[in-house]
Amino acid sequence: MKSTTAKFGKTPHQPSLWTRADALKVHADDPTTTQPLVSANFPVLSDEVFIWDTMPLRDIDGNITSVDGWSVIFTLTADRHPNDPQYLDQNGNYDVIRDWNDRHGRAKMYYWFSRTGKDWKLGGRVMAEGVSPTVREWAGTPILLNEQGEVDLYYTAVTPGATIVKVRGRVVTTEHGVSLVGFEKVKPLFEADGKMYQTEAQNAFWGFRDPWPFRDPKDGKLYMLFEGNVAGERGSHKVGKAEIGDVPPGYEDVGNSRFQTACVGIAVARDEDGDDWEMLPPLLTAVGVNDQTERPHFVFQDGKYYLFTISHTFTYADGVTGPDGVYGFVADSLFGPYVPLNGSGLVLGNPSSQPFQTYSHCVMPNGLVTSFIDSVPTDDTGTQIRIGGTEAPTVGIKIKGQQTFVVAEYDYGYIPPMLDVTLK
Ligand code: FRU
Repeated sequence: MKSTTAKFGKTPHQPSLWTRADALKVHADDPTTTQPLVSANFPVLSDEVFIWDTMPLRDIDGNITSVDGWSVIFTLTADRHPNDPQYLDQNGNYDVIRDWNDRHGRAKMYYWFSRTGKDWKLGGRVMAEGVSPTVREWAGTPILLNEQGEVDLYYTAVTPGATIVKVRGRVVTTEHGVSLVGFEKVKPLFEADGKMYQTEAQNAFWGFRDPWPFRDPKDGKLYMLFEGNVAGERGSHKVGKAEIGDVPPGYEDVGNSRFQTACVGIAVARDEDGDDWEMLPPLLTAVGVNDQTERPHFVFQDGKYYLFTISHTFTYADGVTGPDGVYGFVADSLFGPYVPLNGSGLVLGNPSSQPFQTYSHCVMPNGLVTSFIDSVPTDDTGTQIRIGGTEAPTVGIKIKGQQTFVVAEYDYGYIPPMLDVTLK
């Protein structure tokens, strides 16, 4: 069995490793890296739909962009079924927890608009039924391309398979609101190759999704981050010295951690339009540490590359743990080496008293972090919960060198624009 480091031996860059030793430094409830408690009294964006992953419209450099003064966000969205007999429990009451847990299977891309960067109004579905080639429309990134309002939406077409795709449309504004037009032709870009990135055939629990295209501020080329797992049959990965890192005596046992093989993938565009991509070896691997590094994204600040990715408690490997939340790594150049922020990687985690309060954090270049509310306990024992499916309060963090600090909290779903584009 080959080790993960050997696998990328002849490639232009070596993936950086998030090691078990790094992860041992993760501590929940450090106030500088913990999201403030979300009250169970939160307002809900819509009684008709659940929303979760939120994707603010931005330019290719990562700046959150409004158009003609309108902010626009895209969200993964699913209908709520309060009156559907399928979602009633034995007592005839709406089983909102089951409805919420089933949402991934019917996720669709919707959009919302706002004059204030909050108080979002529902615009509707981005693509008409039948346009997207698979059942599930999973996360990605909408990019405003120009002053004509053209938008490339990169996202993941899932079930059957998992393909990174894009669809082009246009944003149209009036004084009353925003509509999205076009978005009629979905172009498949690439799938996991089984050599660098694990395929479904290698592991039924594989992850390959969440494209985040960007222009490298230093070399000016077009790249894309995505979530993957390191290629290889499930169970064949080796958690060796490099993956373990410098652990104290008594921490050498890796248990069954070979089943956790997350990585942050990267691809480079062969053309200026981003229609033709070549996958490169991962920027970061977490073999023996964690099985999911989802929705990877960058903040470019002070000449450095701040790489953020979301992860869960339940996806950690044997012998390591941490809260649901966003983790981060920093490097001086795109291909690394990347060092975990705050020593551990943890940037903003849920408090242990409310471990599922929020998820799917997106760190924006202005230091604001948006996420959605998953579930919040409504009693002291944590047995009663209220399902969210709505925007969480935005959190402000300060990024300083290799450290981050929670410094502010804002309104629910506050996603202010960093620049405004006047459409021609
Ligand atoms: C994160 C996530 C994404 C995926 C989507 C599926 O919350 O797991 O990685 O695209 O949700 O619903």
